[in-house]
Amino acid sequence: MPNLTINPIGFKNQSDLIVQTPASRLSLRGSLSIPGDKSISHRALMLGALAQGKTRIQGLLLGEDVISTANCLRTLGVDISDLTDPEIIVKGQGLKQLREPLDVLNGGNSGTTMRLMLGILAARDNCFYTLTGDRSLNSRPMSRVIQPLTQMGAEIWGRQNNNLAPLAIKGKKLHSIHYRSPIASAQVKSCVLLAGLFTEGQTTVTEPALSRDHSERMLKAFGADLEIDSQTNSVTIRGGNNLQGQSVIVPGDISSAAFWLVASSVIPNSELTLKNVGINSTRTGILDVLFKMGADITIENKRIVAGEPSADLCVRYSRLQGCEIAGKLTLRSIDEIPIIVVAAAFAEGKTVIKDAAELRVKESDRLSVIATQLNQMGAKITEHPDGLEINGGNLLSGAEVDSHDDHRIAMSLTIAALQASGKTIIRQATAANISYPNFFANLQQICC
Ligand code: S3P
Repeated sequence: MPNLTINPIGFKNQSDLIVQTPASRLSLRGSLSIPGDKSISHRALMLGALAQGKTRIQGLLLGEDVISTANCLRTLGVDISDLTDPEIIVKGQGLKQLREPLDVLNGGNSGTTMRLMLGILAARDNCFYTLTGDRSLNSRPMSRVIQPLTQMGAEIWGRQNNNLAPLAIKGKKLHSIHYRSPIASAQVKSCVLLAGLFTEGQTTVTEPALSRDHSERMLKAFGADLEIDSQTNSVTIRGGNNLQGQSVIVPGDISSAAFWLVASSVIPNSELTLKNVGINSTRTGILDVLFKMGADITIENKRIVAGEPSADLCVRYSRLQGCEIAGKLTLRSIDEIPIIVVAAAFAEGKTVIKDAAELRVKESDRLSVIATQLNQMGAKITEHPDGLEINGGNLLSGAEVDSHDDHRIAMSLTIAALQASGKTIIRQATAANISYPNFFANLQQICC
C-alpha cells in the first residue's frame, strides 16, 4: 500500500490511516466508476471453471476476496488468464477436470469462496481436499453449508463439531435433496445449487426470504436447468446438464457504491455521479433505506447488462432523518449496515436496526464493532442482540479507532472520519482492499 500523505487523508505505517479534515470543510464532487460486484465476480470465475469452453469476463473485481477464488481454482488446475487483463478468460473443462491439489486451498478472508467452493469440492468424486482461511474466516460458521451437503451424502470434517475451518473434504457422488434453509443466505443457497448441478435428479433450496439471486441468474445464463418459484422462495436445479462458457460483464458493486452514497448524503455541498452500479432488487436495500431517510439520489440510464440490471446513481447532500430498518429491508441491505449506521449517526433523530443478528458472524461482529468504534468518536449507539439503536445528530470528533481487519468497517469509519472534527486514526484501514482496492485513491479523486 502506498504511503500517502496528501491531505486530508494519509497512511501511517502501511495499514493505519490518518484522516485529518481541513478547517475549511471538504466536500465530495465529481464522478466515479464503481468497481465490479464481488458476489458476481466470484460466481463468474466459478461457473467459468465448471463450464465447457471459454468464459470471458469483463469488469471483474480485483479485490483480495476474488483473488482468493481465482487462486483456489488455479490450484485445482483451472486455466485463468491474468486477472489484470481487461478481459479475463477462464478455460472451463467441467467438474471432472478439477484435480486433487498437492496443497491446501486457501479462501483468505472470503466466506463466499469457502462456502461456494465447498459445494463444488464435495461433489468431486474420489478426490480429497483441504480448505482453510484467515483468522476471521476460520472463525465463521460453516455448518450452515456442511449440514445440507452432508444430507446430500458429502463427507466433510472440521474443527468444533464440523463447524469451523480448516476443513477436510472427501469428494463423493452426491444425491439430490430438498433443502429448507433456516436462514436466508445466498451463500447457503448457492452452495447447495452448485452441488446439485452434479447430482442426478433435482435439488431444491427453499429459503425463508429471497436472498441475493446472482447465482440463479448466472446459472441460467450458463445453460443450467433451473426453475424459480418466487411464491415459496424456492429454486430447483436439475443435475446432469453441462454448463457452457459465456461472456459475462460484471456490473459495479452497489455495496461499494454505498460508501459514496452515504458520504455525499452527509457531507454538505457534495454531489457525485456513480457510474455503472448494479441495481438488482435483492441488493438495493441501501437505496430504499437512504430514500426513507430523505436522501437526494436519482437513478439514471437504467439498463440490463449480462442479465443484471445496472444504472448510474447521482447523489447530492441532504439532511437525513432517522428511520426503522427491519425484516426484508435488513436482508436487502445486510452488507451495507455498517455504512448505514454512519448515515444514522449523522441523521436527525433515532434509527432502529432490527433482524440483523447475521452481522455478528460476518468478517467481524459488525454490530459490536461499528457501535463501539463510532461511539469512541462521540456517536450514541446502543447494541441489541439482533440490531442497533442509533440516536443521531451528534457531532463526531476524531479518535483512534480500529477496523478489526474488516473491509466494510474500515471504509465506514473513513467516511465517518471525513465528517468528524479533528484527527482520526483508523487502525487496519487497508482491509478495504478485500472488496475495494481503489477506495482511498477514489476518495482522493473526489475530495475537494
Ligand atoms: C454473499 C452473500 C451474503 C453477503 C456476502 C456475499 C454472496 O452472505 O453478506 O457478503 O456472495 O453470496 P450470506 O449468504 O451469508 O447472507
